[in-house]
Amino acid sequence: MRTRKGRLCDADAIYQLVDSFSYDGTLLHRSYMEICENIETFTIVETDLNEFIGCAALHVYGPHLAEVRSIVVRAEIKGHGAGGLLVRSLLHQAEESGIQCVCLFTRIPYFFEHFRFRAVEHQALRDKVLKDCLRCARRHSCDETAMAIGELPALHDRASDDFMRAPRSGDLVQLHV
Ligand SMILES: CC(C)(COP(=O)(O)OP(=O)(O)OC[C@H]1O[C@@H](n2cnc3c(N)ncnc32)[C@H](O)[C@@H]1OP(=O)(O)O)[C@@H](O)C(=O)NCCC(=O)NCCS
Repeated sequence: MRTRKGRLCDADAIYQLVDSFSYDGTLLHRSYMEICENIETFTIVETDLNEFIGCAALHVYGPHLAEVRSIVVRAEIKGHGAGGLLVRSLLHQAEESGIQCVCLFTRIPYFFEHFRFRAVEHQALRDKVLKDCLRCARRHSCDETAMAIGELPALHDRASDDFMRAPRSGDLVQLHV
């Protein structure tokens, strides 16, 4: 088994596999178009014969935070180390990019504890909460564990502040009618 960066030719296999785990909320739904648009964020794991086994994506919020998303391995190949290869590959990419913290939300914290992720408060990951949780039907009864590895983002980190701050006059295009 080996990992490599995702390519557009993988998009269909990624879509089919992620979709098969989206119906019960195990994974967030990703449309085919969204996968194509973000294909460079995906890493895939494949056999030595180039057979697709699974995938995971590293969504970067900024130097302070990235998130492991859409991590999944084909059911018949579970338990053979492919998931671990994906996690290690994403952590390596984050380290190479100088990202201070990697996070995820999961219902299987025990799997991620193998890789030294620790449980944290959901609110400590404001970028993730703003991006996904505010629109989630289960936001008041979330059964996922928030986990992180590395130094948690500081409260003033830019991505979430940009989202929360009131618009300034220069942010809006002035129309001259
Ligand atoms: C989670 C998943 C990606 C793991 O992939 P995998 O290839 O089976 O994992 P690995 O074989 O690399 O396992 C690595 C270690 O984690 C353990 N592990 C695997 N799945 C686990 C689970 N669900 N809970 C706890 N530990 C788990 C393994 O026993 C192994 O431990 P070891 O190194 O001490 O033997 C895979 O089970 C999957 O696709 N699940 C469905 C989708 C999903 O739940 N994704 C996570 C969403 S947050």
